[in-house]
Amino acid sequence: MTLKQETIEDPYLFAILNKLFEQGLQKYRVPFIRRRLEHRMRLRKIPNYQKYAELLSKDPNEFTELISSFSITVTEFFRDPSFFERLRINILPSIIDNCRLTGSQTPEIKIWCAGSATGEEPYSIAILVRELLNADQNAMNLSSCRLGIFATDINSSSIGISQEGIYEETSLKNVTQNLLSRYFQRVSPKVPHSSTARFYQVSEDIRKSVDFHVADLTKTEPPATDFDMILCRNVMIYFDRESREKLIDKFHKALKPHGYLAIGQSEVLMGKLLGKFRSIYLRERIYQKA
Ligand SMILES: C[S@@+](CC[C@H](N)C(=O)[O-])C[C@H]1O[C@@H](n2cnc3c(N)ncnc32)[C@H](O)[C@@H]1O
Repeated sequence: MTLKQETIEDPYLFAILNKLFEQGLQKYRVPFIRRRLEHRMRLRKIPNYQKYAELLSKDPNEFTELISSFSITVTEFFRDPSFFERLRINILPSIIDNCRLTGSQTPEIKIWCAGSATGEEPYSIAILVRELLNADQNAMNLSSCRLGIFATDINSSSIGISQEGIYEETSLKNVTQNLLSRYFQRVSPKVPHSSTARFYQVSEDIRKSVDFHVADLTKTEPPATDFDMILCRNVMIYFDRESREKLIDKFHKALKPHGYLAIGQSEVLMGKLLGKFRSIYLRERIYQKA
């Protein structure tokens, strides 16, 4: 997207936006960029865009801080529990059945979490699939499926946190005691922590089933093809229409026939974006490749 001066009332804001666009931020929607910008201005107690433009030209650290403020990493285990319940009851069992029906010697379930932040979402999926596979195997002695979860995010420090898999208990509030005791170990925080908060590390087996990489969704190709499901939740809200369309197209190509796409609860696929998918669980924002 190119910026038109007449649509931006303040010339200093226009200059700042151009500077950010030169860094590749044109994929984000202008109102979102403005909110992040104004948040930084409030933190630095800067009264107007002119003063903030001056600060940016004097202080390269502020520019770095501003750029990293676009990567919002809010997430938790089993975020939106009703979404995960839908996966557990309807979507994952169907993916597991399909996996067993392939007749392959090494059947594999392939899932991509695009915009995985600090890893809670892909680990939640890995735990759910492991639970379902174990229950089936115990009940019917069925052959197992290999689980391959890919998780990508633009933010390299979030990917570092994900790989370590250590979380404060606040992000585990939706994890049942039963799952907590089987898939997490209590650990001491690496750096001494002032509060009495508890920390837990995801079990090694679950950590090994997720392959984490740094990647910009708007620039790089998917980490694999033939996915059974792609989750891109609470990421596209920040993108402009054109970037969203390209991304949906990319997801469509990377999915298996009838593969699933899940987006965030406050997002929706409409018009041209919906054309390639059909909505199967509207409330949970789950779509299927048409
Ligand atoms: C709010 S978090 C969502 C995390 C998780 N999907 C969830 O719903 O709980 C949004 C994530 O999108 C990532 N993100 C933003 N722009 C991105 C891009 N262009 N490519 C890859 N990840 C991006 C951010 O770094 C952040 O970790």
